[in-house]
Amino acid sequence: MVTPKSSLLFPILLTIALLSLSTCHAHKEATIRELRIAFKENRVNSRQLVEFYLGEIKKLNSVLKGVLEVNPNALYEADRADRERAANVPRSLAGLHGIPVLLKDSIATKDKLNTTSGSFALLGSVVPRDAGIVSKLRKSGAIILGKATLSEWSNFRSLSAPTGWSPRGGQGKNPYVLSATPCGSSSGPAISVAANMVAVSIGTETDGSILCPASFNSVVGIKPTVGLTSRAGVIPVSPSLDTVEPICRTVSDAVYVLEAIVGLDYNDRDATKKTSQYIPYGGYTQFLKLDGLKGKRIGVVRNPFFMFSNRSNLHQVFENHLQTLRYKGAILIDNLEIKGLNAIFNATASGEAAVAIAEFKIAINAYLKSLITSPVRSLADIITFNNKYSDLEKVKNFGQEIFLAAEATNGIGDLEKAAIANMARLTREGYETTMGENRLDAVVTPGADISPVLAIGGFPAISVPAAYNDKGVPVGICFSGLKGSEPTLIEISYGFEQATNVRKMPTFLP
Ligand SMILES: *[C@@H]1O[C@H](CO)[C@@H](O)[C@H](O)[C@H]1NC(C)=O
Ligand SMILES: *[C@@H]1O[C@H](CO)[C@@H](O)[C@H](O)[C@H]1NC(C)=O
Ligand SMILES: *[C@@H]1O[C@H](CO)[C@@H](O)[C@H](O)[C@H]1NC(C)=O
Repeated sequence: MVTPKSSLLFPILLTIALLSLSTCHAHKEATIRELRIAFKENRVNSRQLVEFYLGEIKKLNSVLKGVLEVNPNALYEADRADRERAANVPRSLAGLHGIPVLLKDSIATKDKLNTTSGSFALLGSVVPRDAGIVSKLRKSGAIILGKATLSEWSNFRSLSAPTGWSPRGGQGKNPYVLSATPCGSSSGPAISVAANMVAVSIGTETDGSILCPASFNSVVGIKPTVGLTSRAGVIPVSPSLDTVEPICRTVSDAVYVLEAIVGLDYNDRDATKKTSQYIPYGGYTQFLKLDGLKGKRIGVVRNPFFMFSNRSNLHQVFENHLQTLRYKGAILIDNLEIKGLNAIFNATASGEAAVAIAEFKIAINAYLKSLITSPVRSLADIITFNNKYSDLEKVKNFGQEIFLAAEATNGIGDLEKAAIANMARLTREGYETTMGENRLDAVVTPGADISPVLAIGGFPAISVPAAYNDKGVPVGICFSGLKGSEPTLIEISYGFEQATNVRKMPTFLP
């Protein structure tokens, strides 16, 4: 994972990036909306689009390491989409028809792609079926372009494992500042859309795994209410916290993808059924409104979230953003507090750690058991695998203390039940009370620091590009809300994005 040559690579990479911009201007950072119009007017077809992205992957991925595997059937799927469009079949009107999508390597596909969470332990495993959200993507006409890199096992193996690194994928790089963290665990999806190696992507979050890479790679991440998107066929961490979600360059792209993947799935039945009440009639795109900020009550929790170093430019940038929100009609309720943050930010004290490791053991064992074939069949097998190959560079052992702690658990007992009750209490007394007492539509915070609050509550959030620090590293702004508040969060995020337009293309700085 050490890359002593990064300063040497920089000029090469920059030349490549500039070249690719000048030669491929036609497809430069197209949005889903633009692509749909271009398809309709025969200015581009899906085959050309897939060829373009495959070319970009070839040029950029050896340095950025955002893509783990390319789908050998992608061009075939593109040709099929082009034929369907030419024949005007009903499917060609679906929201993502002919649009290439990249999936985090923890999301199962029943095709030639592997699903491994970045680990060699799962290489060669055969999944029983597409993940629930993959079925929905295919129904919506999407082309599966490939699998994206990630922090191995979604960052749930060891605290000392580097973020954005996996044995199979190597170290993912931040396309803005190569030496900066891409953040994880959905690093590859964020890197890949940021550098335009694909149109849109899908990641997963347990606690911060979408919001943080979205923030660091200057892209948009929508973390939906837990259960709104099916987790079936996704290599799990903790089912009561896990979500599956879009990472894209614009709010509108992310909303198109969200619309395609929400809803009932019989393989994640309880959660998707319970949350289906939140899906608005007519879908989510109706909330992409230019005046979406008007009348929205947004809470500003300065302590501890707005505590910028006084040497940083970010203080002023975020003050300006708050001013823009007001100017666009939002009502800001300033200097609010969320009670119990000290406990919430300490996963041991909140109970999040106890619940996550116990659920992980149950859920990963169930996932491994469901596979048609697999080199490993239990968490214990993975631990043995890691021990056996720990001396190999490609399996490099950064420790596996989280796995060991999980293996030592024994279901959901008294300790875990108390932890679940404690998380519910912290959520009620903290975030829900702040929202309720101030009649808020959303809370605004910089970066992804609020993620544990949202994780233990199962709450949704949207991260939008907001700033670049003095070194050029991106920082996002996060709008969060209560369960089912996606429509409001979309209005606010889209309003903010359209008013500020902060996102720039990657700079590839060393
Ligand atoms: C999946 O892994 C196998 C090795 O087991 C490899 O031969 C194959 O190329 C991989 N598939 C893709 C699409 O990269
Ligand atoms: C920044 O903060 C430190 C410590 O709070 C203070 O000593 C220093 O004077 C501040 N610098 C500026 C430029 O405000
Ligand atoms: C986190 O909470 C645990 C249990 O309440 C406590 O023992 C530990 O010291 C806390 N850690 C920190 C860094 O405050």
